[in-house]
Amino acid sequence: MRVWVTGAAGMLGTNVVFVLRKANVHVCASDREVDITDADAVANYLEQIGRPDWIVNCAAWTAVDAAESNEAAAFKLNADGPGVLAVAAARLGARMIHISTDYVFNGQATVPYAPDAAVDPGSVYGKSKLAGEAAIREGLDKHVIIRTAWLYGAHGANFVGTMLRFMREREEIGVVADQHGAPTYTVDLADAILRVVSASSAMAGTWHFTNKGDTTWYGFAQAIQDEAMKAGLFERKCRITPLTTAQYPTPAVRPAYSVLDTTSFEKDWNIDIPHWRSSLHTFIQSLKGSV
Ligand SMILES: NC(=O)c1ccc[n+]([C@@H]2O[C@H](COP(=O)([O-])OP(=O)(O)OC[C@H]3O[C@@H](n4cnc5c(N)ncnc54)[C@H](OP(=O)(O)O)[C@@H]3O)[C@@H](O)[C@H]2O)c1
Repeated sequence: MRVWVTGAAGMLGTNVVFVLRKANVHVCASDREVDITDADAVANYLEQIGRPDWIVNCAAWTAVDAAESNEAAAFKLNADGPGVLAVAAARLGARMIHISTDYVFNGQATVPYAPDAAVDPGSVYGKSKLAGEAAIREGLDKHVIIRTAWLYGAHGANFVGTMLRFMREREEIGVVADQHGAPTYTVDLADAILRVVSASSAMAGTWHFTNKGDTTWYGFAQAIQDEAMKAGLFERKCRITPLTTAQYPTPAVRPAYSVLDTTSFEKDWNIDIPHWRSSLHTFIQSLKGSV
């Protein structure tokens, strides 16, 4: 099997390439050098590598706040780019996995969002990602759209890395305690992507994947500190103070409730998703000696 991974130098893409290669999948990896918004560049690359069985699109505009003032650029990458890839995949008879986000929802729910729940993005980023989903569905029947949330991992700027740095440098930090979600380890999502490309089923549609359980950013920060202390990453505790969203204004509106229902992913792709707390433990243990 041959898989083309785009955005391969990003936080998720790096883990996807690693996990697939470890499973002996033939991976062609590209990042900015193959601009996914440029149909000619995509066609030339595909000619060079030969027909892939799958395209896994990890390329995206992920700067949520900057998207508010760069709407055209965010839509180009998050909406036009996936459309270009979907059309190219359809022409070659390839399948495609596309990664989307909890930001397509308005965050006003009180129970986990099912994949068919009503969408209503509140930010430019969320709108651009929703437009990307539409472009995939329009361009390619054989698509697997995976919405995820609150990603962290070893290869990009993310909440865990930021918290570890702040906790080392500061006496006290304030963290938002009224937004709920499921912290998700990129290695677990990469394992799930491996499961999808390896499955014999030709299912198409939209699924949700996050680690199990949920918390707030404040609860996540407390867990990061607990795990870091256990791993011996630092010796003194930093005081963590709960904040409201109103006390921490950002250009883009964040969903207050971002929990995604992963039941159909587990059932359809036959996978037991780890709880966010155990995956955080695994990740922080992997940092021993490196921070
Ligand atoms: N991070 C999260 O918490 C989160 C949550 C929910 C969903 N998601 C989704 O998960 C996916 C992966 O996110 P991530 O955090 O791994 O993203 P990321 O680290 O920002 O990686 C995206 C990669 O795409 C590259 N790229 C930028 N423009 C490109 C272009 N025109 N053509 C090809 N590649 C280009 C980026 O390069 P540069 O770095 O040089 O720009 C970067 O290496 C995205 O679809 C994102 O929307 C992320």
